[in-house]
Amino acid sequence: MTSSLEARILPPVLATPLHVGAPNMGPWHEFSELAQEIFRRRWLTNRGPLVIELEQKLQTYLEVEHVVLCANGTIALELAAQAAGLSGEVIVPSFTFIASAHALQWQGLKPVFCDINPHTYNLDPEAIEALITPATRAILGVHLQG
Ligand SMILES: Cc1ncc(COP(=O)(O)O)c(C=O)c1O
Repeated sequence: MTSSLEARILPPVLATPLHVGAPNMGPWHEFSELAQEIFRRRWLTNRGPLVIELEQKLQTYLEVEHVVLCANGTIALELAAQAAGLSGEVIVPSFTFIASAHALQWQGLKPVFCDINPHTYNLDPEAIEALITPATRAILGVHLQG
């Protein structure tokens, strides 16, 4: 006899677990050749040639005037907040990596947490409207799973 709990546990869809945060890594040999070049050059900081090449490729791909690579996502968010000249409140999803809120707070902004849509896991547009006040300066949307 099957208990009600067992009846609710569905069999796995995939043979092996798929980690939702697993990035696309690209071919190892391409990375390894680039990494060897870095070792040969012994140039790890201050706008090396690979940084400049990637910025230019992204600029073309994204069809934008400026691309600035950052050491991590938190710094990128802080730079974006500074560049936009923000002060006051920024609406941010309540379901996101904590650095989304940290970056705002470290720039003197107040993160205002907004509910997400349980189906998309992204900001719920109706919940956003209720949080907009005269102090709201921006909405930081996050597509959490890329
Ligand atoms: C939504 C979101 N914001 C910010 C960050 C922070 O990025 P980093 O760890 O590169 O500083 C992450 C990292 O996972 C993230 O998922």
